[in-house]
Amino acid sequence: MRALVTGASSGIGKVFAEELAKRGYDLVLVARRKERLEKLAHDLSSIYGVAVEPFVADLTDFDKLRELVERFSDIDLLINNAGFGLISPFVEIDTEKGLKMVDLNIRALYYLTKEFSKKMVKRNGNEAGIINIASTAAFQPVPGFATYAATKAFVLSLTEAFSKELEGRVKIMVVCPGPTKTEFFNVAGLPNMRAKFIMTPEKVVKGSLRAFEKGKRTYIPGFFNKLLVFLQRFVSRELALNVVARFFYEKPEGEV
Ligand SMILES: NC(=O)c1ccc[n+]([C@@H]2O[C@H](COP(=O)([O-])OP(=O)(O)OC[C@H]3O[C@@H](n4cnc5c(N)ncnc54)[C@H](OP(=O)(O)O)[C@@H]3O)[C@@H](O)[C@H]2O)c1
Repeated sequence: MRALVTGASSGIGKVFAEELAKRGYDLVLVARRKERLEKLAHDLSSIYGVAVEPFVADLTDFDKLRELVERFSDIDLLINNAGFGLISPFVEIDTEKGLKMVDLNIRALYYLTKEFSKKMVKRNGNEAGIINIASTAAFQPVPGFATYAATKAFVLSLTEAFSKELEGRVKIMVVCPGPTKTEFFNVAGLPNMRAKFIMTPEKVVKGSLRAFEKGKRTYIPGFFNKLLVFLQRFVSRELALNVVARFFYEKPEGEV
């Protein structure tokens, strides 16, 4: 079995790579930071005896996406994990950066999901699967984090719908983590973010792989994250919007 993990140079993606290597998967690891990918590939292959191929790429570059699909047509498990957010009022986000976020979080994920799922269906291997990483931000609009939340809403909606279409043929799951201890908030421009219920990437990934083995369609790691998403069903969209705005827009340095 061979898995392809995007965004494997840090955080959740790196832990996915480690956990899958432990389970005996050969790996293709994708990200932009070459040294990190090469070191991880070397470490995992020497510890677990699996074949690990680093593929250095900016996934907002469409030629690289195409090359990835052509070179690794026999992937059994795709983990679409690469993504980033920017905490800033919508009008103030640099337009190029905002579009890069859309290109990575939506366009790259869409293309890889589509092309690899076509190949998986053709090969008719019921072992094949895809895990897409969304966020708890997918469940409501987030002032101050508007583009990011909208990209993750796309990932959640798309993945749930087409996993139903491919039920019984390809296993597809969407993961919606809440705040997780990775480089995410540094990149997002909020290095001092404190969250009461922050999770480790190890917990997020181990839980995700267990849920995937059980055949879940949607997985929200952590009791508190599940509770928050559940409670949203009982409040109006306007109230949810006002509450979320307090944390990310009105005083983004506060505690979530
Ligand atoms: N941490 C959280 O609180 C949290 C919560 C909910 C959802 N998530 C989601 O979880 C996923 C993983 O994030 P993380 O928390 O592990 O953050 P992270 O530590 O910042 O990791 C992000 C990964 O994406 C890669 N990446 C970024 N831009 C890329 C590009 N243009 N092309 C290729 N790779 C790129 C980065 O590698 P390079 O920089 O080397 O390219 C890195 O490996 C993301 O989709 C994120 O939205 C995170």
